[in-house]
Amino acid sequence: MAEANSRAEALIQSVTKKPGDYSPGLEGVVAARSRLCQIDGAAGKLYYVGYAIEDLVQNSSFEEICFLLWYARLPRIDELENLQKQFREYRALPAEATTFIELLPHTSHPMDALRTVVSLLSTFDTNPEKSPEANLHRAIRLTAQFPTIVATFHRLRQNQKPILPHPKLSHAANFLYMLFGKEPEEMVGKVMDASLILHADHEMNASTFGSLVTASTLSDIYSAVSSGVGALKGPLHGGANEAVLKMLQEIEDPKNVDTWVEQALAKKQKIMGFGHRVYKNYDPRARIFKEYARRLSEKTKFSRFFQVNDKLEQVMQARKGQQGIFPNIDLYSGIVYHQLGIPTDLFTPIFAIARVAGWTAHILEYWQDNRLFRPNAIYDGPGPRPYVAAARR
Ligand code: CMC
Repeated sequence: MAEANSRAEALIQSVTKKPGDYSPGLEGVVAARSRLCQIDGAAGKLYYVGYAIEDLVQNSSFEEICFLLWYARLPRIDELENLQKQFREYRALPAEATTFIELLPHTSHPMDALRTVVSLLSTFDTNPEKSPEANLHRAIRLTAQFPTIVATFHRLRQNQKPILPHPKLSHAANFLYMLFGKEPEEMVGKVMDASLILHADHEMNASTFGSLVTASTLSDIYSAVSSGVGALKGPLHGGANEAVLKMLQEIEDPKNVDTWVEQALAKKQKIMGFGHRVYKNYDPRARIFKEYARRLSEKTKFSRFFQVNDKLEQVMQARKGQQGIFPNIDLYSGIVYHQLGIPTDLFTPIFAIARVAGWTAHILEYWQDNRLFRPNAIYDGPGPRPYVAAARR
């Protein structure tokens, strides 16, 4: 413990800015203490509460990861079974929410639908209790409901009937069941479960920070989570997985990669699926996803995107590796989802289905020692001057 504390202090000394320093994008600013997630950006390592992501993907399940994040320890078997039972109980949406989703324009982006329905669900929560227990209960229920919201919107926009949650399936398998109407093969369910584990948390990322800013005003958990959904949607963050697939469709063939990258960099365009504020090495989540993408490509004989990505990696390594720009999780997640038959605009909602566990865990942790987020700005507009009436401007 003492060793962990002194490591934390050393990190604070090395990265934090002095009061008054300006740091665009808050780069290098330490905004909170947390025991949930650690990224070693130089080594390309990721840990949830001290457990390496590779071990968790290999041995755990998304439900277990939720417990780990909410309670900062792994569950006993009875505790895990209890959480799984709660998830199954809370998956269904209020009937009025389904009716509401039906009224949303079918052309809406599913992230907009998700953000809107999270807000809507707050209006069904009539419990005035704001205790940590009541908020943990809300976190469990919201996490249970996220896949149902996304699948219900997707079915309704295609004029298909929503499918009620399956009482026996895992969180990941049930999502695919509600989306496609049939139970997924074991391997496919495992891939989705791994994806949810890999996306569940990631330290002080933009959407977690966004949700903490809202939470720090002592607003409610629904408002904080909808801030997270809104921040995740952008292509510099969660929206990159959708953007990667569009990029691969545009590049089309490995032989086009060199020219495409050359032209994109000449236009100062960011290459989607590369680069990260914290990782200056290969994102460990991308390494795991790449392996799933490779296996699925072999299985489905649908390897064109995989080949394009492989070539992209080589070209970017040669051009940008020196700058510490490596593949991030979004480079391979899109290919995996595509091969599972998932529509491109559902990629970022899947990220949200996982990250709601991280958002809520960080919110609950932050509220234990809450302080309002209120940074400063450097004013560089005109100095004080007299007001000029409209008629004289
Ligand atoms: N392609 C080309 N150049 C890049 C890229 C990229 N993807 N990322 C960074 N750079 C360059 C950038 O041009 C700049 O170069 P220079 O110093 O010569 O002007 C330098 O690297 C620093 O870039 P920055 O934008 O200041 O760095 P940042 O820490 O603000 O950027 C990032 C992080 C993720 C926004 C950026 O890497 C990016 O836009 N990547 C593409 C979008 C993407 O894949 N996002 C998903 C991130 S991982 C999933 C998640 O957690 O959301």
